Amino acid sequence: MKAADFSELLGIEHLDHSLDEVAGALDASLSGTIELVEPARRMLQAGGKRLRPLLTIAAAVASDPTVAVKPLDPRVRRGAASVELVHVGSLVHDDIMDEALYRRGVPTVNSVEGSNQALLVGDFLLARAGVEAAYVSSEVALSLAVTISDLCDGQSLEGLHQFQIDREVDAAIESIKGKTGALMRAACDIGALCVGRLDLATAFGEFGMNFGIAFQLVDDLLDLLSTEELMGKPVNNDVRAGVFTVPMLLAVQEASGPGRNRLTDLMLDASSNAGAAAEFREHVLAGTAVAATLELIDRYNELARRALDAVSPSRTRDGLTEIPQRYLDGILVEKVPANLR
Ligand code: IPE
Ligand code: IPE
Ligand code: MG
Ligand code: MG
Repeated sequence: MKAADFSELLGIEHLDHSLDEVAGALDASLSGTIELVEPARRMLQAGGKRLRPLLTIAAAVASDPTVAVKPLDPRVRRGAASVELVHVGSLVHDDIMDEALYRRGVPTVNSVEGSNQALLVGDFLLARAGVEAAYVSSEVALSLAVTISDLCDGQSLEGLHQFQIDREVDAAIESIKGKTGALMRAACDIGALCVGRLDLATAFGEFGMNFGIAFQLVDDLLDLLSTEELMGKPVNNDVRAGVFTVPMLLAVQEASGPGRNRLTDLMLDASSNAGAAAEFREHVLAGTAVAATLELIDRYNELARRALDAVSPSRTRDGLTEIPQRYLDGILVEKVPANLR
């Protein structure tokens, strides 16, 4: 699934062209030494879904239907690039923490250039994001800086709860708000801020935050349901990294007696025992945790949809309200083998 697939739904005819312009801006933003630029470019050019720049462009058009999309208004181009740069910078750092070998189908920076260099490459990407945002406006720069701070909070909370069997679902959601929700919020509020609609930033931000929570819950499910080939990154990795995600916590909550003890033993063994990780996954998939997580995803998607009631109706606004559900439907078909759907 590529972001440009949403062109028709959003009524933005040249969306693929606009996203290519953002890709050009990403490349142009990499001003630094070759040791930083080369791995940063490898990650950026590997692509990914480009969902966040899509949201920035769509929020900008929904905020101001007269904004140019071909060529893309330079404020929106820079704003969208700044969001994607933070995303990729945070992924480079995340891969150090998760000790991941693959990302977007290419070798991670930590695996090729080493963790120390990956730390710097992540910092470099975050700083280049700040430069792009500062060129647009102080409001955009502020939104992005607050987001990076929230991201650190979320990720740090996750670290604090690592290997915690009795982690509450609400605590996991709090961490998700910071580590994933905040950047989706920024992707959307920056769309409004780029075109000077400061009054709409809160509504778009609320949409992005709720979609972002749902999005991370989907990612947490895919870690259990998909394959490394389909994802381009490791799967069944959360349990091995001691990140006990919402579907896992729901699986523990629904279990009782010896079954529960077996499940929690497997969770604690998984980091050093591949067999335990695989058996744990089978237990989770056999219960109702996946269905319960899908219900939770529906709730956040609905909150996202309602947040845009505050924005004037238009084809783009209406299309945006549909994206969370379309994303969920599309990604499950694309990434989950048929026997598990
Ligand atoms: C991955 O985000 C990190 C999460 C918040 C789950 P994406 O799934 O959007 O990653 P790319 O951009 O497509 O690589
Ligand atoms: C999202 O969490 C990471 C960031 C927001 C940086 P994950 O650890 O689940 O992301 P993936 O699965 O590695 O992409
Ligand atoms: Mg990770
Ligand atoms: Mg994940």
